[in-house]
Amino acid sequence: MKHVKLGTLDVGRIGLGAMGMSAAYTGAGSDDSESIRTIHRALDLGVTLIDTAEVYGPYTNEELVGRAIKGRRDELVLATKFGFISHRGDTGGRAGVADSTPENIRIAVEGSLRRLGTDRIDLYYQHRVDRRTPIEETIGVLAELVSEGKVLHLGLSEAWLDTIRRAHAVHPISVLQSEYSLWTRDQEPEVLPLLRELGIGFVPYSPLGHGFLTGQVRSLDDLAADDWRRTNPRFTGANFQRNLRIADEVGAVAREAAATPAQVALAWLLAKGDDIAPIPGTKRVTRLEENLAADDLLLTSQQLATLDALTPAEGDHHNEAQARTLER
Ligand SMILES: NC(=O)c1ccc[n+]([C@@H]2O[C@H](COP(=O)([O-])OP(=O)(O)OC[C@H]3O[C@@H](n4cnc5c(N)ncnc54)[C@H](OP(=O)(O)O)[C@@H]3O)[C@@H](O)[C@H]2O)c1
Repeated sequence: MKHVKLGTLDVGRIGLGAMGMSAAYTGAGSDDSESIRTIHRALDLGVTLIDTAEVYGPYTNEELVGRAIKGRRDELVLATKFGFISHRGDTGGRAGVADSTPENIRIAVEGSLRRLGTDRIDLYYQHRVDRRTPIEETIGVLAELVSEGKVLHLGLSEAWLDTIRRAHAVHPISVLQSEYSLWTRDQEPEVLPLLRELGIGFVPYSPLGHGFLTGQVRSLDDLAADDWRRTNPRFTGANFQRNLRIADEVGAVAREAAATPAQVALAWLLAKGDDIAPIPGTKRVTRLEENLAADDLLLTSQQLATLDALTPAEGDHHNEAQARTLER
């Protein structure tokens, strides 16, 4: 596996997103043994960056990752996130609440360290910008955690230009993690250039478009009743049918490249720069192996141009309530 630098952090350039093992998607939590095998296989194949968050489950995904990495802690770059659960006062333990106050972060970090079974988090992300807490206060307490050795590198998620600049001025930010894929490209005009100016790396989440770009989700009947994607505008109503055309276009490039659509979606991202490390999510060994083979797939300039010109997606990438938590 080729490596890239995210700020000062060195990682294998394809990571593993662990969220779907415990939350959000069809089959989450149904086979923890296969999920743990997937994490082990990832480490065997040179993955270093493993991505979780306290809100996945909540808590159960960190616990699962903690079990999986027992005895192998030094082989990976362990990334988790705080700030989507408020542990303070009356709201104690409530998920979905942006809370990046120093008090909340102090509580959150101890919980994550305990569940992950480790004395340090390699990459600690603010999961969502908390509009009521100045980012300087948040980064201030994170910088204290760095000096205490509990956290090694800092990240932001779904933060926009002003927040990124202000945060980076308080303490170096190593990584921004935001949605970026063949059908979600709003990071390209302004955010990516800013990251490059500041020397911050980029981790695209949902690089397979929540699985849609792989062509394996052809009908809503493929998704369980509580699958998060059923609330996503791109998977809803007429948009779903219209968006199948995008999966077909990716499939056509994949046939030409003698690769799979998932590999094409990842190789397209990797071609965008050596400061980019996508974290495709899967809970299955076979799909993990398929996804990691994208490391060896070099698309031609014609194939990249075809992918750059894909039919735009119908529907926003988040529903209204979730979109309000994203900075734009
Ligand atoms: N910072 C944030 O706010 C944020 C938000 C969302 C996600 N994330 C992180 O990003 C990671 C990845 O994003 P994601 O999981 O939302 O979406 P994704 O990686 O775009 O897609 C994951 C989905 O694709 C399926 N899949 C994976 N490989 C496949 C393959 N080769 N062929 C067919 N289907 C395949 C998975 O199913 P199976 O598991 O059944 O294989 C799963 O349903 C998450 O795990 C999480 O760690 C972060």
